[in-house]
Amino acid sequence: MAVQVIQGGPRTGKTHTLAEIRQRASESGALCLTASGFHDERLIRFATLCQFTHAPGVPEGLQSSLLRLMDQAACAEPSGHIPVRLLREVVAEMAACAARQPLFLVVDDAHQADPASQSCLLHIIRRVESHDITVVLAFPRAFRGDILDPLTLVGLGARLIETATMPEAEVRQLLEERTDVGSAIRLAHRVHAITGGNPSLVTALAHDLVQAGGPRARGTPSRSARASGPPTSAGWSAIHTSPHASRLWPYSATTPTRAGRPGC
Ligand SMILES: Nc1ncnc2c1ncn2[C@@H]1O[C@H](COP(=O)(O)OP(=O)(O)OP(=O)(O)O)[C@@H](O)[C@H]1O
Ligand SMILES: [Mg+2]
Repeated sequence: MAVQVIQGGPRTGKTHTLAEIRQRASESGALCLTASGFHDERLIRFATLCQFTHAPGVPEGLQSSLLRLMDQAACAEPSGHIPVRLLREVVAEMAACAARQPLFLVVDDAHQADPASQSCLLHIIRRVESHDITVVLAFPRAFRGDILDPLTLVGLGARLIETATMPEAEVRQLLEERTDVGSAIRLAHRVHAITGGNPSLVTALAHDLVQAGGPRARGTPSRSARASGPPTSAGWSAIHTSPHASRLWPYSATTPTRAGRPGC
């Protein structure tokens, strides 16, 4: 059993990191049950936990135990407490499932999960220690929760992974993935300076640059291979209207010609 807490500021790649973990886990033969907390569903009991029942490949026994828990919890305990007997069944099904293949429970925006789901997750985390179960929870930076609390989880042995801004080398790598090696080397420093290494901004800027006719998207033919002559006016007008890209155009792969830049 391992608990991983992904924490970071807005748009720093928490969801992206979860997706990577999920993909790697699936590729290695693990079963991944995923869910996300949503602010608008915080008042719906088990709204987050319920998402596990829809995961592809969820074993029938686990699915039924989760559904039983959700169906019976409300009437069984008017006080709002979750019946331990039903939770035990869920834990037992998870343990049985983990005996067959590693099990990942991945919850994005766990701070937005409804309180009943948070209580269940905490219960599960504290009872499946000896099983091959990995729980991965994403929270915003510096969040303190009443039920699922990142600091408490770290105190219980969870591993903390902080998503942060990207150093220039990572920006270059991302640009390389989205464009080409030459453009990545040429643009990395500037893109890093403009975006502060925020992955979301780097991604958006790389997208803008490709759209604007600067570096070519990876896997697409170069502009010169597609058509000869200056960039289209649509391309350059995109550069001029994109505040980030316009600061970059002198560094982009294609030097604008006077004829190709509208208004010049
Ligand atoms: N390492 C990365 N490589 C490529 N793109 C990334 C990377 N990290 C983040 N991104 C991109 O940045 C954007 C924001 O990332 P993401 O949604 O994962 O951030 P977040 O921290 O979950 O944001 P929020 O605070 O809104 O939940 C997305 O478009 C994502 O594809
Ligand atoms: Mg996110």
